[in-house]
Amino acid sequence: MIRLYWKNASSCVPAVGDAHGVTREEMRSMEDRLARALAAVRAEWDAGRLGYAALLDRQPYHQTLADLVGRRRGETTDLVVLGIGGSALGAAAVHTALHPATYNLLDDDARGGPRLFVLDNVDPALVADTLKLLGDRLATTVFNVVSKSGKTAETAAQFLIVADMLGGKTARDRIVVTTDPEDGPLRKIAAEQGYDTLPVPPDVGGRFSVLSPVGLFSAAMCGGDVEALLDGARHMAGRLRQAPPAENPACVLAAIKFLMATTKGKPLHVMMPYSNRLLGLADWYRQLWAESLGKRHDRGGREVFVGPTPVKALGATDQHSQAQLYLEGPNDKLVVFLVADRHPADCDVPAPPRGEGPGYLGGRKLSDFLHAEKVATEFALARAGRPSVTIRFDAVDPESVGAFLFFYEFVTSLMGELLDVNAYDQPGVQAIKDATFALLGRKGYEQLAGEIREFDRDEDSYLL
Ligand code: PA5
Repeated sequence: MIRLYWKNASSCVPAVGDAHGVTREEMRSMEDRLARALAAVRAEWDAGRLGYAALLDRQPYHQTLADLVGRRRGETTDLVVLGIGGSALGAAAVHTALHPATYNLLDDDARGGPRLFVLDNVDPALVADTLKLLGDRLATTVFNVVSKSGKTAETAAQFLIVADMLGGKTARDRIVVTTDPEDGPLRKIAAEQGYDTLPVPPDVGGRFSVLSPVGLFSAAMCGGDVEALLDGARHMAGRLRQAPPAENPACVLAAIKFLMATTKGKPLHVMMPYSNRLLGLADWYRQLWAESLGKRHDRGGREVFVGPTPVKALGATDQHSQAQLYLEGPNDKLVVFLVADRHPADCDVPAPPRGEGPGYLGGRKLSDFLHAEKVATEFALARAGRPSVTIRFDAVDPESVGAFLFFYEFVTSLMGELLDVNAYDQPGVQAIKDATFALLGRKGYEQLAGEIREFDRDEDSYLL
């Protein structure tokens, strides 16, 4: 499934050394802290309060999902996910990993499931263009409106556009709402209108919800092997639950990331997959890491302003872009490579005619080439004293992807413990949601609206 390789983040690599790599003593100094962090997360798990772990075994949720997919899949040519943040990124990441980049361009028969569009923005052109593209296929399109709170303005606006466009009866046939099982305006509307619904477990936050109906409905509709995805996650969960800190890959990665951020001057944590299929996972990680760990206050209420900044890059593409900065700019980054031992497809590079041109490429596979590119980048970074870690996927398959998703959720929980912040709230995101409500005239936000008007008063006088 997946394995962690971390030598190049350690002081064993001469150019990385003590200054930029973690030493044996530093790892040892983390032992007690890590043991406490692991014990705290496991205690939550044992008490049934680690929502994203508990949902792996929530059979009724999986059954509701399977029933709905069974009813809808055959008749659906297009699936449009309306959601944002944690209500979109997981679905997009899983889809990108499990299907070819050309998925939506394939014939209906070759695809074996609906085309998928994830509308995670209120960009007017994106929404208008996508709805226009559906054209005659609207009659066989399912719109999956995903919002845990049921209150997010972006998703509400998209929902209103789609419901109005479809009209009452058709909307009932074509809309599936994924939201809190009891609460929230979307749940109320769904009940009134008779929409099909799927539950977002109340104890699972948006960015930890990929393995709930939030991420799994589109995966199952598009023919992804959801059971294998969950099996991969369960397998990883079993390992992380049992292993002591020193043999627990989540603890080791959390320790490295914590030390890099707090004592090695490396607050930028890059995730760089060498696989386009894995790039969505880097987007998903960016949100998980930023929203969970970027916090002003610790759990005691003290002002701390912590959180490593997650960055995404793609190998080999960004070797010709970002890598210049990673190699010669400030030594303030930890790079986490994602690589796959087996890719879903491969190409042979033929020898050039008459031995001309880049003959050294002839007879190779593109997968070997890509692997060499990763080793070249890793080597160049190490020689320049820049640490890196590698997560190796056996294959880009549902099991490994499921294992990775759970693994990173768990690393995030451990990091929350180490940094002493609440990894499951998002007051900053809420502040922007509130300001948006105020600007759009939502009732109850009048005072904030006044403050924003004052702030925005003379914007034009600074236009040049
Ligand atoms: O992770 C989170 O909590 C957020 O990114 C939410 O997923 C995002 O704000 C969307 O919220 P909701 O699902 O309530 O519409």
